[in-house]
Amino acid sequence: MSSLRFHARKKALLLGALLAAGLVAGCEFPPQESAQSGYRGTGMSQITNKAKAEAIAFANSIPEVQPEADDTGPKASEVYQNVKVLGHLSEGQFLRVMSAMTEWVAPEQGCAYCHNVENMADDSMYTKIVSRRMIEMTRTINTTWKPHVAETGVTCYTCHRGQPVPANIWFSQKDHIAAGSAADNKGHNTPAPNASYSSLPRDAFTPLFASAGQIRVIGKDALSTDAPGESIATTERTYSLMMHMSTGLGVNCTFCHNTRAFAEWDQSPPQRVTAWHGIRMVQGLNATYLEPLKSTYPATRLGPEGDAPKANCATCHQGVSKPLGGVSMLKDYIKELSAPPR
Ligand code: HEC
Ligand code: HEC
Ligand code: HEC
Ligand code: HEC
Repeated sequence: MSSLRFHARKKALLLGALLAAGLVAGCEFPPQESAQSGYRGTGMSQITNKAKAEAIAFANSIPEVQPEADDTGPKASEVYQNVKVLGHLSEGQFLRVMSAMTEWVAPEQGCAYCHNVENMADDSMYTKIVSRRMIEMTRTINTTWKPHVAETGVTCYTCHRGQPVPANIWFSQKDHIAAGSAADNKGHNTPAPNASYSSLPRDAFTPLFASAGQIRVIGKDALSTDAPGESIATTERTYSLMMHMSTGLGVNCTFCHNTRAFAEWDQSPPQRVTAWHGIRMVQGLNATYLEPLKSTYPATRLGPEGDAPKANCATCHQGVSKPLGGVSMLKDYIKELSAPPR
């Protein structure tokens, strides 16, 4: 199937499946299934809905692998004029990954989304500059962040899914809004996607960019004097973030916590440790790669505060606990997107 038809068919079928699952109508038909994930009596279980699970599985199907390319012959660095990150590939492998990137990121737009097609070496399009950095970011995820992504790894498709702008991105949102002369609602009661449409503060994602230390808010003992000493605002933000992590992965709090003691690591399932690494990974990606692209994007891509689009858990996970159902697309593109260039 051509890549365009793959994406068009997927959109149409997905909409049908969602309607069938009753998601659009806002109700879920039985049967619901419950799988125990903790010790008996701890109430740690995950609830799934069969019809919804089928729609999710379909949304997470992956495009076909590009045919193998000849790895002999001169290197891309010798054949082309302006290659900075993929020069170690053979010409065949280089063009194979160009086709894959086109299918993953811009199937409807084609090569021209990133290239001045009169001169492929030209760097005048911001999308090409961004993509070069995206290749480096993807490699960092696949090499440095194995404690999170394991050998499964990621490709451009994990986030992009056939679209130039990933479905889940976020921007900074000021939390202090002066409504009237003295009122300051501190971001409350203004339902926003960043706070899972709750009345919690909207700066939920600040810990995914700045310091993570502020996520911990529970004191070690009653009337503790050595508690983290966090304010109500910080505590609320932790809950906003946790709600995002749950919805982003399509799980309950009990996927990572024994809810009788949220803070205790020795009562938490191992997934919480994976999540801990995930938080640090997302911070690193946002601080090192995504925010610094601010000056490269056109103004229309920036947020209300003038910041660059950033990633959160849902950017890769898109509602499932292992992105794309844990299937590795990376295994067919190791040389391009994982092993550092030689
Ligand atoms: C999502 C963005 C993107 C798309 C789509 C894309 N490319 Fe590229 N292309 C790049 C980047 C980034 C480089 C530079 C790679 C480097 O620096 O190692 C590049 C470089 C090239 C070069 C080397 C030019 C030179 O002389 O320096 C060729 C040839 C090329 N691409 C062909 C294609 C073809 C053919 C397609 C469509 C099938 C395509 N590209 C689609 C991002 C893209
Ligand atoms: C961790 C998630 C993630 C991965 C992996 C990823 N990207 Fe991105 N990409 C983003 C985010 C977030 C943006 C910012 C969206 C925007 O431009 O509004 C972005 C933006 C882009 C843009 C600019 C789109 C535009 O129109 O503004 C291009 C092109 C792009 N990525 C190409 C790639 C390529 C090629 C790869 C694989 C080598 C890749 N990305 C891997 C998250 C990712
Ligand atoms: C995907 C795993 C995951 C899910 C789901 C999750 N959490 Fe967490 N939670 C964590 C991790 C990891 C930390 C520690 C963060 C850190 O230290 O950087 C944490 C920390 C917390 C803390 C602070 C603990 C302390 O030491 O002060 C609270 C409270 C909390 N979570 C509540 C919740 C609630 C409520 C939910 C459901 C809405 C939830 N969590 C869902 C992984 C998760
Ligand atoms: C760059 C993409 C990416 C981002 C962003 C990301 N993850 Fe993941 N995550 C993965 C991949 C890939 C896996 C699967 C690893 C494997 O196969 O073992 C995974 C696995 C997990 C798991 C283990 C699930 C299980 O069933 O064992 C947890 C928990 C998790 N991620 C939490 C998070 C949280 C929380 C965030 C946001 C703070 C996050 N992830 C952000 C790519 C990502």
